[in-house]
Order: sequence, then C-alpha cells, then structure tokens
Amino acid sequence: MIGRLNHVAIAVKDLDAAVASYRDMLGAKVSPALPQPEHGVTVVFIELPNTKIELLHPLGADSPIAKFLERNADGGMHHVCYEVDDIIAARDKLKAGGARILGNGEPKIGAHGKPVLFLHPKDFDGTLVELEQA
Ligand code: CO
Repeated sequence: MIGRLNHVAIAVKDLDAAVASYRDMLGAKVSPALPQPEHGVTVVFIELPNTKIELLHPLGADSPIAKFLERNADGGMHHVCYEVDDIIAARDKLKAGGARILGNGEPKIGAHGKPVLFLHPKDFDGTLVELEQA
C-alpha cells in the first residue's frame, strides 16, 4: 500500500543553525523558510535526489513541535511520510486493521498542498507516520 518515502521530518530548536548545517556543511539544496500557521510550524524543505527532509520549527503558542522539543531538547526525528495512491482507501484499511488515526480521522491539507493523515506512533514502533496522497 505505501509507496515512495516522501520525506523525513526533523524538529529543530534553532532553524537558522539547522539550515546552515544542511546548506553549508552537508551541501544540500535548502528552500526558504515557509511559515504554516495552520499547522503551527515553520518548514524548510531540503531537496535530496530521492526524497526530502523537512526541518520543522515551532510557530505560535500551541505548536505540536513545541511539545516535542520540550521532551527532546536537542531536536530529533519527528515523523516519516509515505505516499499512498488513495488516502481514503488507505485510512479505511488501517482503521479496519486496528490502527489509530490522529485527529478526527479526516485528511488535512499538508505542507505540499495534498491531503495527509497521521497514524499513532504506538501502532508503528514508536514512529509517527504521515500518509500523503501521491
Ligand atoms: Co510531514
């Protein structure tokens, strides 16, 4: 069911420092910072030949990334995003199999303008999984 790895998201406490590390030390192609108030994050996209890395930094008072950074003071891997051909069919199959969908279970429009869902980390080996409509 899952297809390409769309991105790996990393929560960072200092966005400028993280951008400098990827751009200057790792030599990666790095996008400008993109505020996404509806998701409570500022995102920087790092384009790799086979996938993307997203640097996530808290934006606003109740950002989900702020809580993550309280528990992980140095930052760290936040989620992985897999592409699926049909996000509704994928959701229904997962629910039927007992997996928990976060939020109200309905897809939201994600960072790339496509519908996304998040799956409970306890159901996937402690990893927050995002599904994105391909
Ligand atoms: Co994501």
